[in-house]
Amino acid sequence: MVSVTAATLVAFAAGAIGAPQALIDRRQAPGGCNSTVELDASTNVWQNYKLHANSFYRSEVEAAAAEMSGDAAEAALRVADIGTFLWADTIANIARIEPALQGVPCDEIFGLVVYDLPGRDCAAKASNGELKVGEIDRYKTEFIDVIADIIKAYPNQAFALVIEPDSLPNLVTNIDLQSCQDSAAGYREGVAYALKTLNLPNVVTYIDAGHGGWLGWDENLTPGAQELADVYIAAGSPSQVRGIATNVAGWNQWDMVPGEFADDPDAQYNQAQNEKLFLELFSPELEAAGMPGHAIVDTGRSGNPGGRLEWGDWCNVVDAGFGRRPSADTGSEWADAFVWVKPGGESDGTSDSSADRYDEFCGKPDAFQPSPEAGQWHQAYFEMLIENANPAI
Ligand code: BGC
Repeated sequence: MVSVTAATLVAFAAGAIGAPQALIDRRQAPGGCNSTVELDASTNVWQNYKLHANSFYRSEVEAAAAEMSGDAAEAALRVADIGTFLWADTIANIARIEPALQGVPCDEIFGLVVYDLPGRDCAAKASNGELKVGEIDRYKTEFIDVIADIIKAYPNQAFALVIEPDSLPNLVTNIDLQSCQDSAAGYREGVAYALKTLNLPNVVTYIDAGHGGWLGWDENLTPGAQELADVYIAAGSPSQVRGIATNVAGWNQWDMVPGEFADDPDAQYNQAQNEKLFLELFSPELEAAGMPGHAIVDTGRSGNPGGRLEWGDWCNVVDAGFGRRPSADTGSEWADAFVWVKPGGESDGTSDSSADRYDEFCGKPDAFQPSPEAGQWHQAYFEMLIENANPAI
C-alpha cells in the first residue's frame, strides 16, 4: 500500500500522473506515513486502509454530545470514531481539509467528497450550489485546482474521492428539466476535469452513480453506464479511477431480500432492489462501456428501513438509523467497501417552505420536520439516527 520504489519516484519526477516533485510544496502532517503513498486502483485499496474518522465531523459530533446526557451522550461520542467522508461543498469549505489532515494514521485513508459543480443539484433545490451555470472556469481554478494542490502537498497521505454526487445520474433521468439541460455541459466538462486533475498517485477515485432506485431501472442501466463511461473516457481513462460510489446520502439496503420496494407495482421494471443487486446489474454495464465497475457503497444511514413512502424520497427520512460500519468485508465481487459518505446528523435540506432552497421533498410526510438547510447540523435527527442504529452504536 505504501512504497517509495524507484518507479514511484520516477513516475513523480516525470509527472506521469502527478505534478513534478520539485513543484510540490510538501506539508506532510505529523502522524502520517513517512513515505509517499502510491495506490494501485486496479486493486481494492480498502483491504489495506481503514476509512479515517475526520476531525471536522468529530467536532460536530462532540458538540452534539455536549447537548445530550447519559448513555445517549456516550453513544454519540462513539460515532466520532467511525470513519466518515468530509465534504468540500463550497470554495470556502476547502479550508476544512487541511486541518483535518493533521495526524491521520498511516493505515487510514482520508475520504473526501468533491461537490461544487456549476448549477449543482439541477433536479432539486435543497443543495443548489454557489456556482452558476457557465462558471466552469471558477470550478476549475478556484475549486478543483485548489483541492489538487492540497492533495499534492500531502503525498504521504492516502485519499479516497467521491466525485460530484447526483450530477451525472441527473443527466440520465432528469434531462427533461430545463435546469438539467442548462447544467449538462458543465457537469460533463467539470467531472472530466476533476477526474483528470485529481488523478494523483495517492488517490483512488469513485464517480457517483446514484443508487438502485435511480439508475437501477431497466431502461436506465445502459444509458446510465454510458453517461459515466463517456465522461471517464473523455477524461483520458484516468488510472486512479476505480469505479463508482452508490447510495451516497441514500437510504437503500445493501442486501435485503425481497427489496424494500419489491411490493410496488413498478418493481417489475427494476431488478436492482438492493444495492448489491444494483452493482451486479450496473457494474458489468460500466465495464462493457469501457469503465471500471468497482464500487463503494454508503451505508451510513441505512440502519432502519421502512421510513420512505416512495423509493425516490431523499430528504431527512423519518425513522432512519445509522447503518453498517465502514468495512472492506462486503462479500461482493463489485463492492470494495461499505463507507459512510453522508455525515449522519448533517441535514439534507430545509423544511422551511419560505427558504430559497426549500424543496418539496423536504416537506413530505416522511421527511423529518423541522429541518435546517442542507449540510447544517441537525441535532434531533442525529439523536434519532443513534436511537435507530443497526448495528447499535
Ligand atoms: C449539502 C452539502 C453538505 C452535504 C453533506 C449536501 O446535501 O448540500 O452542503 O456538505 O450534504 O452533509
